[in-house]
Amino acid sequence: MGSLRRKVALVTGASSGIGAETARQLASLNCQIALTGRSAGNLGKIKDECIEQGLDENLILLLPGDLTDDTFLERILNETVKEFGRLDIVVNCAGRPCLGYLEDSSMEMFDEVFKINLRAPFVLTQLAMSHLVKSKGVVVNVSSCASLVSHPSSLIYCMSKAGLDGLTHSAAQEYAKCGVRVNAVSPGATMTPLFERNGADVDKVIEMSKRRHPLGRHGDVSEVAKAIVFLASDSSSMVTGHCLTVDGGRSTLPGAPLKEADDDADSSMKCPL
Ligand SMILES: NC(=O)c1ccc[n+]([C@@H]2O[C@H](COP(=O)([O-])OP(=O)(O)OC[C@H]3O[C@@H](n4cnc5c(N)ncnc54)[C@H](OP(=O)(O)O)[C@@H]3O)[C@@H](O)[C@H]2O)c1
Repeated sequence: MGSLRRKVALVTGASSGIGAETARQLASLNCQIALTGRSAGNLGKIKDECIEQGLDENLILLLPGDLTDDTFLERILNETVKEFGRLDIVVNCAGRPCLGYLEDSSMEMFDEVFKINLRAPFVLTQLAMSHLVKSKGVVVNVSSCASLVSHPSSLIYCMSKAGLDGLTHSAAQEYAKCGVRVNAVSPGATMTPLFERNGADVDKVIEMSKRRHPLGRHGDVSEVAKAIVFLASDSSSMVTGHCLTVDGGRSTLPGAPLKEADDDADSSMKCPL
């Protein structure tokens, strides 16, 4: 793995799941990290776990708050650069699922989901670019294999992640001449607090993942975070504009059927993969 020692990374969604594991892996590689999430309590726990990975506590900055607020996006960028003097890596991981077909989707839901899944990465990437141009840095977006296969029961979620793929491709092309790389990872079902938080029956999600993913199982956060760290490091120096699936082959299969069999309906609605 290309060295990340003393590089400066800003990770959104670091208070839980994939973002938290990304923080732990970056910490183990001695990367300086600014971590955001809404839960200050969870961010504190992740900070302790990063220190356990060997990172000095002075090299960890916690920035709790809501990314749907543009002034907060500006603040986390400014505070990261003020604290560490530079910015090398932005990981846009914060996001949320959303259930509903076209016929029952509201504009309120559309706006809520797009604000966190697409607007926040767009604004943060735009604000970060002048710093990333200086450091020849990288952006890693956390998309989803749901952007690649049709999943009518999670229409707005799929649209938001497809938009994130578009941001990845186009920003990569625009900034390649400046030496800035922009990539994404596209996980399949990955066991995180996301499912319980959204009321899914976790056992059903695990069973469904066995059938829906050619590798026969759901993913682990460490597998997704390793891909994020790879794209953040010089080991991927010739990779830009790429959405790397970490989905056990899920996206090679057709999307979910329009209506699930009865025994799957409940879990499927809560598992957008
Ligand atoms: N798990 C999967 O199967 C899967 C599959 C494909 C893609 N993904 C994507 O992976 C990313 C991480 O998901 P995860 O599974 O790790 O979910 P998670 O455990 O629920 O974590 C979501 C993170 O996003 C943060 N967040 C959500 N809304 C926010 C807001 N308005 N402002 C600030 N932070 C906010 C949460 O902060 P708080 O907890 O502090 O509120 C949390 O840190 C998401 O973009 C998701 O779409 C997940």
